[in-house]
Amino acid sequence: LGNDVVDIRAFTKGTNMFTFDPGFVSTASCESKITFIDGEKGLLYYRGYPIEQLAEKSDYLEVCYLLIYGELPNAEQKKQFVDTVTKHTMVHEQLTWFFRGFRRDAHPMAMMVGVVGALSAFYQDSLEIADPEHRKVAIYRLISKIPTIAAMCYRYSNGLPFNFPRNDLSYAANFMHMMFATPCEKYEPNPVLVRALDRIFTLHADHEQNASTSTVRLAGSSGANPFACIAAGIACLWGPSHGGANEAVLKMLDEIGDVSNVAEFMEGVKAKKYRLMGFGHRVYKNMDPRAAIMKTTCDEVLRELGLENDPKFKLAMELEKIALNDPYFIEKKLYPNVDFYSGIVLSALNIPVSMFTVIFALARTVGWISHWNESLSDPNAKIGRPRQLYTGAARRDFVPVDKR
Ligand code: ACO
Repeated sequence: LGNDVVDIRAFTKGTNMFTFDPGFVSTASCESKITFIDGEKGLLYYRGYPIEQLAEKSDYLEVCYLLIYGELPNAEQKKQFVDTVTKHTMVHEQLTWFFRGFRRDAHPMAMMVGVVGALSAFYQDSLEIADPEHRKVAIYRLISKIPTIAAMCYRYSNGLPFNFPRNDLSYAANFMHMMFATPCEKYEPNPVLVRALDRIFTLHADHEQNASTSTVRLAGSSGANPFACIAAGIACLWGPSHGGANEAVLKMLDEIGDVSNVAEFMEGVKAKKYRLMGFGHRVYKNMDPRAAIMKTTCDEVLRELGLENDPKFKLAMELEKIALNDPYFIEKKLYPNVDFYSGIVLSALNIPVSMFTVIFALARTVGWISHWNESLSDPNAKIGRPRQLYTGAARRDFVPVDKR
């Protein structure tokens, strides 16, 4: 297929031969036209457009359109898209009842998995997904309603009444309104913070075949309901090696506590007692391009809020400086990833740590659903069915219980 890609289908068809690749380190599970990553050079393109240009000049809903349809919208297409998404942000009143079944201290990601999965009971789409128009409706519903559900998770865990969406606000501003507005005063989100949140959404919108996207594609390959597929993606994202990393970064910074403890902490990392969260990436063996953009955004937000001397940010900068100059990290090609900085920005926006992965899920929904749509549009689509290397017992005969 190319210099460094081997298509093994021709060799293995009709045989018992297969590749053994734990963690899919060198196995492509599909073809895709959505996102390109060059991990060695630190490049990330959505549909051919560099992430730096999109983060600087575009906005999240435009990026959503690009990921779904493959091209940037013209002015009329953009207006229609934004209108449709904006007008479908409400959720069915019965869906709000699901929240009452959760303990008040439930993790918001646990609620996300449950409530987004429950959308499948409201939109019983499984039988219709062969129809591209029907898939489009599912896509719109998800992008529109996911911020509403995410904000409801936050409000429920804090014992606050749910806020209705506001159609006069942008996607990110409306999310902030649903999170933070109170009935007592008019809430006007700060434009610098709205822009920062929009950028976090854009940077997390897609990242090709990561664990959660692969989960969504695999679930979708059986023809499952799209909302159930996205719930599967949310469940996969939750882990600290994936979307839970920005939450883990903040916990790590809290544990380190002070710049004076950094050297000792780094010794523990090198002794492999624990990992430096927010560092390293399966694909990027160079700077994560999203991390550079996030660092600038972090500066802007801290300046806007007068938090330049924030101790957590100073601590993070010290860790970064030491790690980037340490032979252990250089040799292993461990650089900061996007989540090293996004946690600090989210924290400055007053978003609690337990909501960080929810924000990631909100932003990644468009990537998941674009991959789901792409995989179902493929006329040669097959159900995903990895093989295994069996290492269990050889054939043996059953022994009755009184003889064991
Ligand atoms: N801190 C210290 N050492 C690390 C780290 C880290 N964060 N990440 C990798 N290493 C070391 C490993 O100990 C290993 O060393 P060894 O070769 O001596 O055994 C080597 O680097 C390779 O590590 P692997 O786990 O094999 O690398 P892999 O590509 O499988 O892991 C991962 C990638 C899971 C992201 C890893 O770097 C990690 O755990 N990072 C911290 C969690 C994190 O920030 N995750 C966010 C990812 S980005 C995202 O989801 C948006």
